[in-house]
Amino acid sequence: MPQIIDNVSLRDHHTFATEAAARYAATILGVEDLLTLRASQVWQDNPLLILGSGSNTLFQNDFPGLILFNRIQGIEIVKESSEHIWLKVGAGENWHELVQYCISHEYAGIENLSLIPGTVGAAPIQNIGAYGVELESVFEELTAFELKSGKSIRFDHSDCNFGYRFSIFKGECINQFCITDVTLRLNKHPTFHLDYGQIQDVLNEMGVITPSIRSISEAVIKIRQSKLPDPIQLPNAGSFFKNPVISKEHFEKLLTSFPNIKYYPEKNNMKKIPAAWLIEQCGWRGKRSGRVGVHEKQALVIINYDHGSGSEICNLAKAIQADVKQKFDIELFPEVCIL
Ligand code: EPU
Repeated sequence: MPQIIDNVSLRDHHTFATEAAARYAATILGVEDLLTLRASQVWQDNPLLILGSGSNTLFQNDFPGLILFNRIQGIEIVKESSEHIWLKVGAGENWHELVQYCISHEYAGIENLSLIPGTVGAAPIQNIGAYGVELESVFEELTAFELKSGKSIRFDHSDCNFGYRFSIFKGECINQFCITDVTLRLNKHPTFHLDYGQIQDVLNEMGVITPSIRSISEAVIKIRQSKLPDPIQLPNAGSFFKNPVISKEHFEKLLTSFPNIKYYPEKNNMKKIPAAWLIEQCGWRGKRSGRVGVHEKQALVIINYDHGSGSEICNLAKAIQADVKQKFDIELFPEVCIL
């Protein structure tokens, strides 16, 4: 029986490292632990929250219920063809360690997603993405434990309703499931994704003439390390906001006042605007507000420099949102899950 612990500090359980506590917490190593805990009074009487490594979560307040730390392990080959290999991975496995495992076995598809903090189970929830690749491109299926019924349910790609930093687990199924395993379909013969921004430049700098999944991973790691702060040294949760998508009309209006506006074309003539650019234009890059501030190398990252509180971080985020709204008439929405 997994032990339920009272009043657990969450400081070391989320990468923003703010002071907050969970009324109860327990560690789960498998579906059996979920079934056992589900029979307890604490489970029945309290709100529940599943936490991987807390790399996309900000605790503004104490959590008044039971937090389940998902530590379900395991990597298993479930199917193989001449083109693909299907890996079923425990939701509590570390994402970057999985990427490295795939690279060492020459399984291609997730090398562009190197060094993303977090667990495998969290990856489909927000359809993690970086350098031109999103998780959904290799996603086959997952198993999720329904907290209410105690049933394990299989979700295939279409069930997940993936979008930009979105899935059904952020939408209609929010807080209803604990993902227990994720199956990825990886490629034996790689297709390289080198078109995003700096990847090709960094490969050139590295003297790589013929790219491999390992060299792409190394290039991505170099880019990330040069821009994104290590949460262990500077507590943060990566991009704080999503990149907003605006209409063609709105974009054209902005273009007259801001001819150098950055954008990526989206479907239906919409434009995705880098939130980092908007925030930087409002003068926030590198700016501090008490114990928290905006990263000097990437304006989309908020840092907890000196034991700041969740409220200080939220107040800074609100000030940024207000400035972006006023200057560009664009609303920024947090990517980070705020509790
Ligand atoms: N830019 C600025 N100021 C900055 C930083 C960037 O103006 O301080 C502009 C530049 O023009 C740059 C553009 O914004 O070309 C885009 O910047 P970047 O390539 O760093 O990507 P991003 O859109 O800011 C997204 C993801 C990141 C992911 C990178 C790389 C979101 C919300 N964020 O950031 O994901 O690593 O692309 O693919 O989509 C995360 O989710 O935590 C995360 C770090």
